[in-house]
This record gives sequence, structure tokens and C-alpha cells, in this order.
Amino acid sequence: MAENATLVLQGKKYELPVTIGTEGEIGINIKSLRAESGGAITLDPGYKNTGSCESAITFLDGEKSILRYRGYAIEDLAEKASFLEVAYLLIFGELPTQSELDKLNKDIKKQAYLDDDLKKILDGFPKSAHPMGVLASMTSALVAFNPGSVNVNSQEDMYNAIIKILAKFPILVAWAFRKRNGWPLEYGDGSSNYVNNILKMMFDMPNEKYELNPIVSEAFNKLLILHADHEQNCSASTVRMVGSSHAGLFVSISAGISALWGPLHGGANQAVVEMLESIKENGGDTQKYLAKAKDKEDPFRLMGFGHRVYKNFDPRAKIIKKSADEVLGKLGVEDPVLDIAKRLEKEALQDDYFVKRKLYPNVDFYSGIIYRALGIPTEMFTVIFAIGRLPGWIAQWREMRLRKEPIGRPRQIYVGRNKRDFQEIQDR
Ligand code: SDX
Repeated sequence: MAENATLVLQGKKYELPVTIGTEGEIGINIKSLRAESGGAITLDPGYKNTGSCESAITFLDGEKSILRYRGYAIEDLAEKASFLEVAYLLIFGELPTQSELDKLNKDIKKQAYLDDDLKKILDGFPKSAHPMGVLASMTSALVAFNPGSVNVNSQEDMYNAIIKILAKFPILVAWAFRKRNGWPLEYGDGSSNYVNNILKMMFDMPNEKYELNPIVSEAFNKLLILHADHEQNCSASTVRMVGSSHAGLFVSISAGISALWGPLHGGANQAVVEMLESIKENGGDTQKYLAKAKDKEDPFRLMGFGHRVYKNFDPRAKIIKKSADEVLGKLGVEDPVLDIAKRLEKEALQDDYFVKRKLYPNVDFYSGIIYRALGIPTEMFTVIFAIGRLPGWIAQWREMRLRKEPIGRPRQIYVGRNKRDFQEIQDR
């Protein structure tokens, strides 16, 4: 146990216990502060310096560009593991044995269907609806057809709810995608593996033999692994917050989908490609966009750049950048925005504004370029991020429930009007 931290406030000293994590991170525990100080709390908008929990799932070091899932380096997992192995690792804490993986696959396949009445809900959306909004709604709607997945207290109930969402979420994704295109809704088949079945459910067309491209399958598997968890990011914290009220897993995930949709978070992968496209339309004038990003009067931000935690390279961005060259090369895809992205990155990393603020490309900067090469349309990019992040959200929710964490309820400092008397309307 480390020595306490001492806080001196209005002439009084408070000893605050300190927690040291397994990677040496220091957490000053302020659990007793308000009671002992007669009301003082800390203030930290955006929680930039505040830990919400102790967690054993993911470790990242933003200064050293380290990302590990349950102790395994992201570089190793991205190269050597399947997405379902990584899902098992994140959720249950260990890489699965072959029999554990086979059981997970079998249990998922048994649940890989949706109540047909969900199609009626899907039909209610206009084709123009953003798939993230459709997905958030349909994920919540799953509760109506799986009421047993709401009040999960036993580990068995929890396992069943986890299997259901792992099995049904990809179908919702495929249906949302196919609905936009006016294609018949598909189920894929039980033969192929989890990741390949997602691709098949999305792209299989009637009267055509579906050919899985191994390059696409391998790239998709790697991208999903790279997105699988990222400790207490905005959407994972949302899942934990909603889940802390003991709302069920499905609605907690639905809340996470909504949080991920934002362009400052997972929605950035769509915004990056839209930004690169507009640079291309502007004759590739990267300097104009860098100037806009630096102009405080201009709300424009360089999408795919900067990160709350990484103040050095996002290790995922490095892997995705390398993969972009490989995948586009193997697929024979020429995408001019890849060259624009590389030029933009080079110029930004030589620009004092970005260097001083330690703004580097993040996971979203190159991912959309690969998704596009895989035949995934721009408005589906954040949905693919959500499929990748699903195991992370599940793992964070499960850890919070197993640790019996209290309902999340932050305090505030009130800065509004002091007490005043009611005024009748004629006196206002
Ligand atoms: C993801 O948290 C996670 O782990 C998220 C994620 C995950 O896996 O879950 O990694 C996924 O969400 C990646 C981030 C995707 N978002 C974007 O690419 C959107 C663009 N990036 C920014 O909006 C921003 O960098 C954030 C939101 C990612 C981080 O914002 P912070 O930590 O709140 O930093 P900040 O806004 O306080 O910025 C610090 C300074 C500011 O300038 P000053 O006020 O000091 O002069 O850097 C500037 C900002 O204006 N800045 C940028 C910028 N990002 C920060 N300026 C121009 N372009 C940018 N992209």
C-alpha cells in the first residue's frame, strides 16, 4: 500500500489513501473526502484526471503508445488472434482453450436469430435513417423479445444475456445495412466463423454465389480486434453508467452505441473520410484544412487527430495505417484519399500547433479508408466500430456488475442563483 496523499483545505489536513495499479498508476482515493471535509468535492469536467473505477480489462499508456487487453499486447492480438478469441479474452479474462472457443461458437450459433416481429420495427425506419440510430433503437428493442435478459443477477443469467447480444447484434447490423439498400434480410449460415458470417450476412446477394475474399476477411478480423476495447472511453463509461442502475445489458449497450455515434468519438471514422473527400474536392489543399483546424474561430477540427489519452502515436493507428497499404494493394484498390491522409499526417506532425498539443492520428484516421476498400459504405463505418467494441462494452458491464459497483451518480458545484421568493406573473 503506498503512503497517503495529504490534502490541506482551509487550514485542515486530510489524509487520502492511495491505490497503486499493477502498472504503477497512482489513484488518490477521495471516497471519504466529502464526509470528512464537511462537503468539499473535486471538480473535473470531462473526467480528464478522474478515475471512475478499478479495472482489470484493458491497460493503455498514452505516453508510451501501449495498449493491452488483459495483459496481451494489441500488436500480438491483431496479428495472431481471431476476433472471437479476443472477445472471450476481454469478457472472461483469459484466452480460450479450443474447447472453450468451440462452446462459445456453439452457444452463439444457437442464438443467432431474431424474432421476426423485429422486422416490423425495422420497416418503420426511413431508408435514409443513419444506421447508428437504427442500431441503437433495435438493440433496445431486443429487450422486448428477450425479457429474461434484463434482471441478470446470476452468472448464468449474465452468460445467457452475453451470448444473446453477441449472437444477435451482428444480425441487427447486417439487417440495418441491407434495409438501407433495399436488399432482402439475410441470416448468413452456421458454417463460417463469426467474422466471416458477419460479412456474409452483409454482402450475400440472392442468385449469386457468395465468394468470401480472404484478404477482406483477414483485414476485417484485425480491424474488429483493434476496436474491441479501450478502457474508460466515452461509450464504455456510458455502458457502465447505465448498467450501474441495473438496467439490463442490451439497453446499456444501446446507450453505448448512442455515445459512440458522436463525431468526437466513434463517429470520427465517418467524419475523417468526409473530411478527406472535401480536401480532395478542394484540389488536395491540405494546408487550408490544417489552417482551419488551428483557427480557434473555426469550429473545424482535424478529424481522426488527437486523443484524450494518447499523447503519442495511437498504436492502433500505426497498425491500421500499415494495413491500409497492404489491403488496398492486395485488393488492387487505388484510393486517392489515402495519399491525402498520409500527406495530411506528415504536414500536421511537422506543424507546431499539433506537435505542441501532442495531437497524433488516432484509430479513426485510417480505418475508414480500409472499410471503404472492403466495400463498406461511409455511413456504416461507425457501425463497424460498434461491432468491434461490443466485446469491450460487454466486458466493462460484466466487470462493473460482478464487482457490485454502486450506481453512478456524480456530484456538482452549483453556480446558479441563490434563494429568491416566487414572483406572481404580473410582478415579473
Ligand atoms: C475515439 O477515449 C477513447 O479511448 C476513444 C477511442 C476509443 O477507442 O474508444 O480511442 C476512439 O473516440 C478516438 C477519437 C476520435 N475523435 C476525433 O478524431 C475527433 C477529433 N479529435 C478531437 O475532437 C479531440 O482530440 C478529442 C475529442 C479526441 C480529445 O479531446 P480532449 O482530450 O478533450 O482534448 P481537447 O479538446 O481539450 O484539446 C486539447 C487542445 C485544444 O487546443 P487548446 O484549447 O489547448 O488551444 O488540442 C486541440 C484543442 O482545440 N485539439 C485539436 C484537435 N484535437 C484537440 N485541434 C484541432 N484538431 C483536433 N483534432
